[in-house]
Amino acid sequence: MDEREKQLEYIEKCRRLVSERSAAAGRPLTFCVTTFGCQMNARDSEKLCGILESIGFVSAGEEEADLVIFNTCSVRDNANQRVYGHLGRLKSIKRERPDMMVGICGCMMQEESAVKKVRESYSFVDIIFGTHNVYALAEILYERLIKDAPVVQVLPGTDKIVEQLPVDRKYPFKSGVNISFGCNNFCTYCIVPYVRGRERSRRPGDIIREVEALAKDGVIEVMLLGQNVNSYGNDFAEGSDESRVTFPALLKMVAQVPGIERVRFMTSHPKDLSDELIYVIAENEKICRHFHLPLQSGSSRLLKDMNRRYDKEHYLGLVKKLRDKVPGIAITTDIIVGYPGETDEDNEETLDVIRKAEFDNAFTFQYSKRTGTPAAAREDQISPEIVKERFDRVLALVQEMSAKRALTYEGRVMDALVEEENQKSPGFLTGRLSTNSSVHFKGDKELIGKLVKVRLLESRGFYYMGEIV
Ligand code: 5AD
Ligand code: SF4
Repeated sequence: MDEREKQLEYIEKCRRLVSERSAAAGRPLTFCVTTFGCQMNARDSEKLCGILESIGFVSAGEEEADLVIFNTCSVRDNANQRVYGHLGRLKSIKRERPDMMVGICGCMMQEESAVKKVRESYSFVDIIFGTHNVYALAEILYERLIKDAPVVQVLPGTDKIVEQLPVDRKYPFKSGVNISFGCNNFCTYCIVPYVRGRERSRRPGDIIREVEALAKDGVIEVMLLGQNVNSYGNDFAEGSDESRVTFPALLKMVAQVPGIERVRFMTSHPKDLSDELIYVIAENEKICRHFHLPLQSGSSRLLKDMNRRYDKEHYLGLVKKLRDKVPGIAITTDIIVGYPGETDEDNEETLDVIRKAEFDNAFTFQYSKRTGTPAAAREDQISPEIVKERFDRVLALVQEMSAKRALTYEGRVMDALVEEENQKSPGFLTGRLSTNSSVHFKGDKELIGKLVKVRLLESRGFYYMGEIV
């Protein structure tokens, strides 16, 4: 029996147990999956929700659900702290409702120290699993249901990719699609390669089949997900049929799937960004005019130290090429401030790149020490006051640049995918532009899930106000 069939059997077994319990309770059992972190985790959570719904659970809020699962992130310490905050709040709820079950999974659980802390300080947690066995939720839950003791199942790694299990998408009209898992880059500050394992690419045929199925199910926008999409397929055996499908080729194939109107991807490593990729984007209108290209630092000295394998000039060259070849493209980035050994001159270099690249948006992070990574062991850590000071300077310049860029789009008419009703202003909708910015405009909620033409009237920092034309 293959893994998929095995898991479908566990779903069925859980289904019987859960239906007995819900008959006894006189109501359906409920679940809540709370997600921390990146798009990868968001997609994993959709898989968890799909499995739980197949088992017969219905969705509810975190404080009233019968089963709460935290899908955790460990990229920076504040993500870990937020999880502990949620667990702390559940402690008293669990005391009042001992039947409630609590699960934790995701990146944090791939760290031994975090598992130890959860087991010691939050011993009420019922199930613990990691990033490599999200597909096995039904099996893990079944074990928990039949034996009255916590189940801990964290795998050190995997070469398995389990296809075609149930998924419950958050949005009916757009979806993430994993193309690869894990990362081989070992940037010195980053915990991802340790908690997500080595890079494994899904076969192109499986990806295209999934996109076709999504399109049949009403999806018009897909986001291809990988820690480093540009190295997609590097793990395929040399000379195999798959090895001929590079990331640009895959992107082109996905954009050709009937029904798919928009394709995005995340994340690109500057060291692997090829001219072929830029060419494919330029040639294909369905590929969104947004490129997320993490810079991390503008200092070539620090980039070398971080093991990023590009320098400031190479990065700026890529930005120029993208802007020249793909007019109107929005470029966004990630920046870390306060990496060990960072000097004021290094920080100046980062500010210089921000000025020259004119990022449309940037996520700026204060360096966070991740145990087990080479940078964490360094003795030249930067004091929090200096980090804060540099961070504020970086943030102010990022905001200035993004406001400047946003102005250049004012007055344009662009397609927006209508995502939801605006929570704050009744009668307003929120749409996403190809550049990944949001726009708010008046419209009927019947338009949700559709592409509409919108004139951008005014930029307001992170979003635009517009009108349907
Ligand atoms: N500290 C701060 N930011 C980090 N990132 C990754 N690791 C760390 C760390 N230890 C940031 C990088 C990456 C983004 C997803 O998170 O900028 O691109
Ligand atoms: Fe972390 Fe670097 Fe891999 Fe990105 S490329 S996940 S920053 S190790």
